[in-house]
Amino acid sequence: MTVQPLNRTSFGDDSNSGVLMTLEEANELLNEWVPNERLQLHMKQVAAVMKAWALEKEGCDERTALKWELAGLLHDADWEKYPDDHCRMIIEELERRSIDPEIIHCIASHGPRYFGVQPANNMDKMIYVFDELSGFIHAAALIRPARYEGLDHKSILKKLKTPSFAAQVNRDDISDAISRIDTPLEEIIDFVIEKQKHVA
Ligand SMILES: [Fe+2]
Repeated sequence: MTVQPLNRTSFGDDSNSGVLMTLEEANELLNEWVPNERLQLHMKQVAAVMKAWALEKEGCDERTALKWELAGLLHDADWEKYPDDHCRMIIEELERRSIDPEIIHCIASHGPRYFGVQPANNMDKMIYVFDELSGFIHAAALIRPARYEGLDHKSILKKLKTPSFAAQVNRDDISDAISRIDTPLEEIIDFVIEKQKHVA
């Protein structure tokens, strides 16, 4: 699997600003493109965390929060079927569907080191923050008998310092993402735990 940089700086069309999908349409796309339930769950968890952050921390209205949610829900939609074209395929699909350019840019910037697109606004920065952490926290919850019950940032911070645990999660990406926002890592971890623990 070799992810290619997107080699683009502009995504979608400004005239489509405000054009959203419904959650039903996004879930249909997921069911078609992502047979892997574990990967679908990852996207649903990131979506729940993104939506909650938009509503609770950014003061967004419901429609703007839906943009955050859709970006979370679709950010890895092409990972399973098109691993060599990850990110490019979903971006082009959303462009074909004339979706709001901010959603497309957000997805394009969720891995700056891989796709070569820098997070610009808060929605972009937060998907970058939440993506790896959400998967890492879920992996940590799964190995506990009580799962999410009683899980807090202390044990997650400890696991982040254990390179053998969820070794595929790049700790540098997490630090880089956190360095771009004003909220401390501890607070972000507790927020992710709280908002994704009910998503199954
Ligand atoms: Fe992801």
